[in-house]
Amino acid sequence: MEGWTIVNILLGLCLLMLSGSYAKEKLETGPTFVIDYENDQFLKDGEPFRYVSGSIHYFRVLPTQWRDRLKKMRMAGFNALQTYVEWSSHEPEQGMYDFTGMFDLVTFIKTAQEEGLAVILRPGPFIDAERDMGGLPYWLLNKNPSMRLRSSDPTYLIYVDNWFNNVLLPKIRPLLYANGGPIIMVQGLGDDVVLFTTDGDGASYLKCGKIPGVYSTVDFGSGSSVTDAFAAMRLFEPRGPLVNSEYYPGWLDHWGEPHSTVDAETVAKTLDTMLALNASVNLYMFHGGTSFGLTSGANMGGSFQACPTSYDYDAPLSEAGDPTQKYWIIRNTTKKVILCLLSPNLNLKYCNLT
Ligand SMILES: *[C@@H]1O[C@H](CO)[C@@H](O)[C@H](O)[C@H]1NC(C)=O
Ligand SMILES: *[C@@H]1O[C@H](CO)[C@@H](O)[C@H](O)[C@H]1NC(C)=O
Repeated sequence: MEGWTIVNILLGLCLLMLSGSYAKEKLETGPTFVIDYENDQFLKDGEPFRYVSGSIHYFRVLPTQWRDRLKKMRMAGFNALQTYVEWSSHEPEQGMYDFTGMFDLVTFIKTAQEEGLAVILRPGPFIDAERDMGGLPYWLLNKNPSMRLRSSDPTYLIYVDNWFNNVLLPKIRPLLYANGGPIIMVQGLGDDVVLFTTDGDGASYLKCGKIPGVYSTVDFGSGSSVTDAFAAMRLFEPRGPLVNSEYYPGWLDHWGEPHSTVDAETVAKTLDTMLALNASVNLYMFHGGTSFGLTSGANMGGSFQACPTSYDYDAPLSEAGDPTQKYWIIRNTTKKVILCLLSPNLNLKYCNLT
């Protein structure tokens, strides 16, 4: 998770990657995805759009299982996938790139598209996500042991720039919605983007996270007051769609602590409340999977808290990929809007919740 206390994550909402007069022509006819501030909604190809998405990290699931997990998510009524991109997996040693097997990001994204899911990409560079060094490559600290990670330290940014501009973005660009791909939202690509921040659901978090010109969203778990959480968001974004970028149907584990669980009925009830408010929601996680090898990370609460290899998360799909009771309860909730979810163009129009 990118949590309550952690510095905001930026999400960009990619609008159009084109420029010049060709772009103008494309604007009128081609795929578009924008915020409609006037009517508090997203517009996809000019139609009201909202998403119910779920997080699945490709680097925590064997590639032979990707389609199965994505299909199960689609069958629960979801219309979008959210995933992080993990830099350390793709550049394990400086200049040595890996986009094969479990790190074949392009195939993962295309599989989601084939399964009828839009994609929301969160490329970091820092992802937290209970991963070793928050997904940053270890070798950064060889370059400069006193490097200030996640800052504007030029000895850090030089490697971030290379990773983004020379390696990752060329792979992502053809997969953007405007270019015929499934990616509707992504961080900082192209010239014409709307950026998102994700912060805890209190004015104090949002105050520090708010960046001018960037759309603020909130994250919160079940049992929170949806009204209060979105009221906090509205302090900073008076208009535009309501978004919970990280709704927690479960929670992470630490060594030495009991497995975290979150009551399924409570999860469904809060989800229902958000859907009734026309909000877009991402479940973090829909399927957690496994932090293989030595890739799991740690948190720093009162003490050092190591995370186990299991990232089960008490999610709707278990670590093994099986639907849990929570899966069926959540599916019963999304069923209320499912007719819209299953429309061929992925548009989730506003439905009467029955
Ligand atoms: C949800 O959207 C519909 C269609 O735009 C609108 O009629 C309704 O009032 C909205 N509901 C809320 C709670 O904003
Ligand atoms: C889902 O809804 C149906 C119909 O209301 C009900 O029979 C079923 O028990 C529900 N399933 C769960 C897991 O709550």
